[in-house]
Amino acid sequence: MSEEKKQIILTGDRPTGRLHLGHYVGSLRGRVELQNSGKFDEINILVADDQALTDNADNPQKIRDNMIQVVLDYLSVGIDPQKTNICVQSAIPALHALTFYYMNLVTTARLSRNPTVKSEIKLRGFDDEGLPAGFFTYPVSQAADITAFNATVVPVGEDQLPMLEQTREIVHKFNSVYGEVLTMPNALLPSNEKARRLPGTDGKAKMSKSLGNCIYLSDDSKTLHDRVFSMYTDPEHINVADPGHVEGNMVFTYLDAFCTDEHFAEYLPDYQNLDEMKAHYMRGGLGDVKCKKFLYNVLEEMLSPIRAERSRWAADIPAVYDILKAGTAHAVEVTNETLERVRAAMKIDYFAGDAIIKEWEDILKS
Ligand code: TRP
Repeated sequence: MSEEKKQIILTGDRPTGRLHLGHYVGSLRGRVELQNSGKFDEINILVADDQALTDNADNPQKIRDNMIQVVLDYLSVGIDPQKTNICVQSAIPALHALTFYYMNLVTTARLSRNPTVKSEIKLRGFDDEGLPAGFFTYPVSQAADITAFNATVVPVGEDQLPMLEQTREIVHKFNSVYGEVLTMPNALLPSNEKARRLPGTDGKAKMSKSLGNCIYLSDDSKTLHDRVFSMYTDPEHINVADPGHVEGNMVFTYLDAFCTDEHFAEYLPDYQNLDEMKAHYMRGGLGDVKCKKFLYNVLEEMLSPIRAERSRWAADIPAVYDILKAGTAHAVEVTNETLERVRAAMKIDYFAGDAIIKEWEDILKS
């Protein structure tokens, strides 16, 4: 089985809004590196609109509009359609069929224990009466996504680890009941541990649109400036001379995630590196405005080419459409092949050939 040796990546995002720095740090940046490493036989990115609809049933226009936003975000950060296959979940029928079959391999009790879904249910304020079954079971659909592409590697942020664990359990169960058909996937977290999860600009645990604490990849310079200058820092650092805290201070949290020694040489030569800057801040004598200016420069340097690339693609939507269409067509082929193997293993491949005629005749004779 040479197929098993192939290194295949599958990852995805829900198109519920433009992508922000949290996505960039948690996964986009890593995806571009993986793409350019040349180590993978196939790389797929799924825009998970069906998953987005599990808690947006009444807002289909939002998902439709954000489909293009998310794809533009991919292209603008350096996802290269020559190397990476970008595809639309809702247009890949095998994913729906696989989800339905995998539902039989997972219990409602197990689904209730998924910590990511649990916290999302809380966040959305769903009670037992209001929780859509589709939302409750979306980890099963995600298992379908991952296995349909025969993914060996799934690069994700930390919050997605429970999905991977659940997928691995489904693969194990499927293979032990029906035979070795599905590929066992592995999660791949961003290597820089500090940069795995980026809090919101207000210091809240996560960047999220509903909290209004995001910096979007597509934000213009002025918006970026406003966002940086209104960041949560250290409420006890009132006068410049006061000693300050860097823990829980978003300016330093973001600098941890984005700045390099070269940035100091370029924008803040008072210090060689972040450790020196932090030491000064903690001692007292370094003001927030200076720190924020530096962070703004660091982020602006990173985001301005991304913005430029975005406007380049935005000026050619027919080309973006073709990329998505071709990527999806490829995905349909690959996933149909998996579905055929799954159906055969589950003994529901009635029309894959007419061997069953003989089988049925024999049964009736005996
Ligand atoms: N659940 C992921 C998120 O919210 C999106 C997603 C859907 C995904 N299908 C996937 C991620 C498959 C990795 C692999 O961001």
